[in-house]
Amino acid sequence: MQIQEVFDLVKDDMINVEEVFKKNLSSSVPLVSKVGEYILNSGGKRFRPLLLLLCARLCNYNGESHVPLAGVMEFIHTATLLHDDVVDSANMRRGNAAANTVWGDGASILVGDFLLSKAFTMAVTYGNDRVLNVLSHSTTRMAEGEMLQLVKHSDIGMSEEDYFEVVANKTAVLFSSSSQVAAILGEVELEQEVALANYGMRIGTAYQLMDDCLDYVSTDNALGKAVGNDLREGKVTLPLIHAFKSANETDRSVLKAAIEADEFDESKLKEVLGIIERCGGIEYAIEYAGKLVEEAKKDLELFDPVVERAALEAVADYVIERSF
Ligand code: IPE
Ligand code: IPE
Ligand code: MG
Ligand code: MG
Repeated sequence: MQIQEVFDLVKDDMINVEEVFKKNLSSSVPLVSKVGEYILNSGGKRFRPLLLLLCARLCNYNGESHVPLAGVMEFIHTATLLHDDVVDSANMRRGNAAANTVWGDGASILVGDFLLSKAFTMAVTYGNDRVLNVLSHSTTRMAEGEMLQLVKHSDIGMSEEDYFEVVANKTAVLFSSSSQVAAILGEVELEQEVALANYGMRIGTAYQLMDDCLDYVSTDNALGKAVGNDLREGKVTLPLIHAFKSANETDRSVLKAAIEADEFDESKLKEVLGIIERCGGIEYAIEYAGKLVEEAKKDLELFDPVVERAALEAVADYVIERSF
């Protein structure tokens, strides 16, 4: 199944999710709505709502709360992007100027807070205690993930273990809660709920691994954000960690100087990429992601081979095939 067919499966629900965004962006302070609409209408892939909607159908959920809860996932995601672009000093997002470059860091942080609060207002209305439990743990872990990443800033000796903790928390947890919340709504057996939570965790991790590869090998246009920003900002990711481990002394000192530089020299990006490629850093990360995707597909084996299961398998494959 192609990813477009997957999105087509939940097209009607997704239209309603977009309505949820509109409704929940209204504010007595017009700038809040303006910044919120700017970022939400800028062309996100809607991956987390997609997961929730598909998993809700897989779990035979017949109610209506999946739509607002899919909206909750995208609100949380969007809030973290607003905050993340401030932390990362990023100036491009989804092919447009990032909100922080248009309205400043303060507005981005505060609208991020607004979206996060709105997300929980919606979750209180449409979720139950277990849903709220999963969501509140997720947002806590996301903050911890971004914080650990900040602490490890410019640290060329960052371990793989720390890297995977960052990725699990900042990215994979929200994928995992998107699929788990759907399982909770569908009231499936605990074993199936855990399987879906694991599925989300694995594809979420693979998703970030690919994002970190694309940060080196894609183009600004394809990606809609500035390529090379991780190195520019001192962010150590798996391709670099792997390269640093296997590089010779000369190359290691180039990598170390590049990640520690206060003023980044753009001409270094090519050189660093050359070393990473020579050391197989990109291949290593892609291979890792590929294994996670295969394991994620196995998590789905507890479910009947219905069309939604095939769609979730296609979603898993798409994570490592995507080019933006
Ligand atoms: C960007 O997420 C942040 C990462 C987890 C890499 P997405 O790639 O899902 O961003 P949008 O929502 O489609 O723009
Ligand atoms: C993902 O990390 C951000 C969040 C999960 C909040 P990145 O910093 O790699 O994401 P991009 O590259 O800015 O989208
Ligand atoms: Mg970022
Ligand atoms: Mg990135």
